[in-house]
Amino acid sequence: MSSSDMKIITVIGSGLIGRSWAMVFVSGGYSVKIYDNQPGQSANAITEIRKQLEELEEAHMLRGDLTSKQQLSLLSSYEDLAPALEGAFFVQECVFEQLEVKQSVFQDIERLVGKEVILSSSTSCLVPSKVFSNVQSRSRCLVSHPVNPPYYVKLVELVPHPETATAVMDTTHSLMTKVGQAPVRLMKEIDGFALNRVQAAIIAESWRLVQDGVISVKDIDLVMSEGLGMRYAFIGPMETMHLNAPAGLEDYMKRYGEGIQRILTSFGPVPHFSGSEGAKSVVNEMCELIPNDQQHLSARMERRDRLLMGLAKLKKEH
Ligand SMILES: NC(=O)c1ccc[n+]([C@@H]2O[C@H](COP(=O)([O-])OP(=O)(O)OC[C@H]3O[C@@H](n4cnc5c(N)ncnc54)[C@H](O)[C@@H]3O)[C@@H](O)[C@H]2O)c1
Repeated sequence: MSSSDMKIITVIGSGLIGRSWAMVFVSGGYSVKIYDNQPGQSANAITEIRKQLEELEEAHMLRGDLTSKQQLSLLSSYEDLAPALEGAFFVQECVFEQLEVKQSVFQDIERLVGKEVILSSSTSCLVPSKVFSNVQSRSRCLVSHPVNPPYYVKLVELVPHPETATAVMDTTHSLMTKVGQAPVRLMKEIDGFALNRVQAAIIAESWRLVQDGVISVKDIDLVMSEGLGMRYAFIGPMETMHLNAPAGLEDYMKRYGEGIQRILTSFGPVPHFSGSEGAKSVVNEMCELIPNDQQHLSARMERRDRLLMGLAKLKKEH
């Protein structure tokens, strides 16, 4: 496929993630066709995106070189699948996280596009070999797993199906880089991919420490936001270790490896996250800090997104 044929991307499903992907792709100058099977939903998505792009422009946080008006002119909405897919070289699926729904969506898409069109899923928890099991030509399939909200948090995990062609991983990696995301490649599929596996490990130990009465909910969150997170926003755990000993990673492990192994063997079993008395008490403690009503949660979500926007700006400058 020549680069002149690689101008149109179709986004399937126009909820939270579909809208974000559309914004990311138009920021890179691609034409984006949005399709949703709920009547009016894809048109509503464009109205919502317009609002967001204008706000971002005003806050000098609009991504890419185009104005919000130029970016909006690249968007179109569809209620029929066939015209939505016409001319696309890349399809990003963002429908509900239900295996059967995704499998049937990809089956429908495959009937309407050529074999060279890349089929990419936003799934957070389903492995590619399941998502694409009904697709005949699987070498063009992969998962491109974003992190919410993808406009500020740029990581995308590219996860291959066992049959995915290397060229498809390469093209997707280039596309994601071109639109300003930060793609990482998994060499093979695994439940939870990389991000959610690391996240699950952090959640489990945080939960155990609170439930076992070692630390409060408030303070374990500070361990991350004022401690580990300060470094992790810029350098990962591997580089952190490499820089935390005079002679790098090997030296670090000579000094601290045994301690880390001892701590790891003291980790408890996988906690019960709901139903038990312990779980209820963790939830209550959290709700005392931030009540779980819409007003409080929305205010904290807005704060989170504002802070992420500031951090994205800072990272851009470094
Ligand atoms: N929300 C997150 O934090 C997050 C993060 C990373 C990945 N994801 C993944 O992204 C995907 C979408 O999640 P979301 O949060 O945007 O969900 P959502 O519920 O906000 O949106 C889903 C959209 O898909 C549409 N849809 C459902 N079935 C469809 C079909 N058959 N054809 C066309 N459109 C259809 C719905 O009308 C809805 O607009 C999921 O696979 C999810 O796991 C979500």
